[in-house]
Amino acid sequence: MLLTHANLATFDADGAYGLVTDGAIWIESECIRWVGPMQDAPQETGAGERLDLGGRLVTPGLVDCHTHIVHAGNRSKEFEMRLGGASYEEVARAGGGINSTVTATRDASEEDLLCSALTRVDALISEGVTTLEIKSGYGLNIKSELKMLRVARKIARERPVRVKTSFLGAHSVPAEYSGRADAYLDEVCLPALAAADEAGLVDAVDGFCEGIAFSREQIRRVFEAAKSLGLPVKLHAEQLSNLGGAQLAAEFSAMSSDHLEYATEEDVAAMARAGMAAVLLPGAFYFLRETKLPPLEALRSHGVAMALATDCNPGTSPLTSPLLVMNMACTLFRMTPEEALSGVTLHGAQALGLNDCGKLCAGARADLAIWDVEHPAELAYRIGFNPLHKRIFAGAM
Ligand code: NIG
Ligand code: FE
Repeated sequence: MLLTHANLATFDADGAYGLVTDGAIWIESECIRWVGPMQDAPQETGAGERLDLGGRLVTPGLVDCHTHIVHAGNRSKEFEMRLGGASYEEVARAGGGINSTVTATRDASEEDLLCSALTRVDALISEGVTTLEIKSGYGLNIKSELKMLRVARKIARERPVRVKTSFLGAHSVPAEYSGRADAYLDEVCLPALAAADEAGLVDAVDGFCEGIAFSREQIRRVFEAAKSLGLPVKLHAEQLSNLGGAQLAAEFSAMSSDHLEYATEEDVAAMARAGMAAVLLPGAFYFLRETKLPPLEALRSHGVAMALATDCNPGTSPLTSPLLVMNMACTLFRMTPEEALSGVTLHGAQALGLNDCGKLCAGARADLAIWDVEHPAELAYRIGFNPLHKRIFAGAM
């Protein structure tokens, strides 16, 4: 297939950004074979389909690298409580928060979980997402953690989208282990991780290092277990306070630290040395009405890749729009539209340890989004408008 007369927002093999006006892309089976200006298009592109894009913009397919998209129920009641003045931590300590979604998720059948997740996945796909990460963490017992991860794997069979799973057994201490976090790790979380890994359900291991969740030393135990299974790690770190999670993650050469509102320059320097990505989640920042900004200047000056994601979850970011994430990253975090685009493409892929997507260059997967706009800045600029024209997944429309 040859796509012609398109504007191309390319990220090349080295991750350098470029804009090609009147470009072409040659796709062969599942891969991009050639990208460049129309006049240089190779002659031997064969007798395949030709698609004139009439000046539309092509970007890499979007990567949503941090979601809790598999869950049951919703938390609109807590939303009301928080609007009445309660903080996220207060709601959690009063038995709401993550644990209320745990009850709903444990009670849901596998079919119902899949069905509700697919409506949200479809919203992402309709905005050009071709790769997404899905975490467990609302089961918090062996049976339900495995159920969530099986649903995540099924999504990749039900829809044309690539799914990377993260085991997040260390998301919250469930009610039955209240005050006994270490016993929960020993009796549930670590055995669940081993069982899920044995079943081929785990691509990475995540945790929530926070006062209302797990301490740095408890997360260290989870990371040691991940290491012994040969699984990469990542961490929800410094979201509500600074507990040193980002530096712990760096010690374990994590793929990313996520949230980071309370991270310091020292944390960022450690992340840079470890070659980690920062995953920024403006949806959660907005929804919790947080005022402390993540350390943008330090991330830039230390050259840490800044990925962006929806954090789709029922408690802090009931969001299924990567385009709105891009807009929020610009308006709330003062990121540039170019940084926003690389956040949901190249850097999102990097945060998942993937180097075959998130870019338009020869050899990359043919995961593309074609937009009814001329310039990439338009993607971050509009609010609540979806200009997706077509999506190509692994070379197929
Ligand atoms: O990424 N921070 C922890 N995990 C989620 C929130 C989950 C929830 O409140 O249900 C987050 O914000
Ligand atoms: Fe999260």
